[in-house]
Amino acid sequence: MPVIAKYCPEIKVTIVDRDEERINAWNSEHLPIYEPLLKELIDQVRGVNLFFSTEVDKAIRESQVIFIAVNTPNKTYGMGQNGGYDLSAYESVARQVAATAEDDKIIVEKSTVPVRTADKIRRIFEANRKHKDINFEVVSNPEFLAEGTAIKNNDKPDRVLVGGMDSEKGKKAVEILASIYGHWVPRERIITTGLFSAELSKLACNAFLAQRISSINSISAICEASGADITEVQRVLGSDHRIGPDFLNASVGFGGSCFAKDLQGLVYLCESMQLHPVAEYWKQVLIINNYQKQRFAMRIVREMFDTVYRKKICVFGFAFKKNTGDVRDSAAIDICQFLLNEGAQVSVYDPKVLANDVHRLFEKVVCERDPYDAAQQAHAIVIATEWDEFKTLDWSNIFACMKKPAFIFDGRNILDHEELRSIGFQVFAVGRSIRNDVSYS
Ligand code: UGA
Repeated sequence: MPVIAKYCPEIKVTIVDRDEERINAWNSEHLPIYEPLLKELIDQVRGVNLFFSTEVDKAIRESQVIFIAVNTPNKTYGMGQNGGYDLSAYESVARQVAATAEDDKIIVEKSTVPVRTADKIRRIFEANRKHKDINFEVVSNPEFLAEGTAIKNNDKPDRVLVGGMDSEKGKKAVEILASIYGHWVPRERIITTGLFSAELSKLACNAFLAQRISSINSISAICEASGADITEVQRVLGSDHRIGPDFLNASVGFGGSCFAKDLQGLVYLCESMQLHPVAEYWKQVLIINNYQKQRFAMRIVREMFDTVYRKKICVFGFAFKKNTGDVRDSAAIDICQFLLNEGAQVSVYDPKVLANDVHRLFEKVVCERDPYDAAQQAHAIVIATEWDEFKTLDWSNIFACMKKPAFIFDGRNILDHEELRSIGFQVFAVGRSIRNDVSYS
């Protein structure tokens, strides 16, 4: 929304939420989330043509285009538990819009939803509108931004997708939305489709991206067992233009609020359509992801002489990826849980994650504000997030203050393993079998 405000000065953008605390935070100097470039952008447009407010009904009445961008988490209860989407917040917003609107509206489905949700929402509008002359035109406009690069992704998107009904009003609504994006996105990058294709494309995109990570991670397991090197295999795969180099970094496993949720949603959708082999296919992407996290954590214990009991292990990075403070479904959570179950003393250093977010999950984990303090007397450092600053730490200094042998488990393959070995570290990395000469100095 701030990007729309930036490029469309003639449009007034109002972001509403019933949560007063959150809106106050958005109106303050301390935004409720960390996202590179977001603060600078908000400073530029807030109070000019971008407003944050709790006056939901007023904004509904005043706006011609309404984006619904509420959370659609996996259901945690009843039918479809842990798979189906919980659309209760989504439906409740739709009912509020229908009951409040006094004239025609374009309703933009921004949240990720299962296929055919637009149809259900349209029926809710029709059944709840104030009078039958009000038209609600539902269009699907899925979000493709990734956390950490959100502003860049919206400034220069690969594509913008707008799906609508194949009717005169549907086409007009698609055109209005496309013309908003047309202020800064080249026309050939604005793809228009049918409603259900747009909804499915969003799920399919996330499933394909997650599948690439599970694919490379499955190969990393073979590398570790065979002596091949995943970074070399990655280079070969990435140089085939049909495969391409992006999203081929072997890791501790993918995390975040989207991939696992959307894969589970896709699996549930397939099952509800009786497409069981298709459901099994996508389920496997999740199985490999869990296997990768488990495999990595088990390797830590195995390499540290089969016990981490009472050993201090320092986890560098707790966010699910770099450049965000978001810890939702982060691989670091599973790793910490595994190590705690083994009796390790776990401490965490992450440049952006709030200690509260770690303590909500693990009361006993110590959160450090400085990587060098964090490493004091540690037996091992585990790299769980690919923060750039880890590459430039003074590793000799860190080595000097650790117990020996000092271990590094690089779950992101971001460090210079040769250099670390020459310092004296025992180095283990995803998909690489590194020869460690024992050094206790
Ligand atoms: C993802 C998609 O990339 C976005 O296109 C989509 O809009 C978004 O979900 C969403 O549905 O809202 P996001 O979850 O923010 O974005 O982050 P990604 O960059 O996709 O990373 C997801 C996870 O995969 C992270 O844990 C990351 O570290 C991991 N990853 C990514 C790898 O392990 N290897 C890679 O090569 C790339």
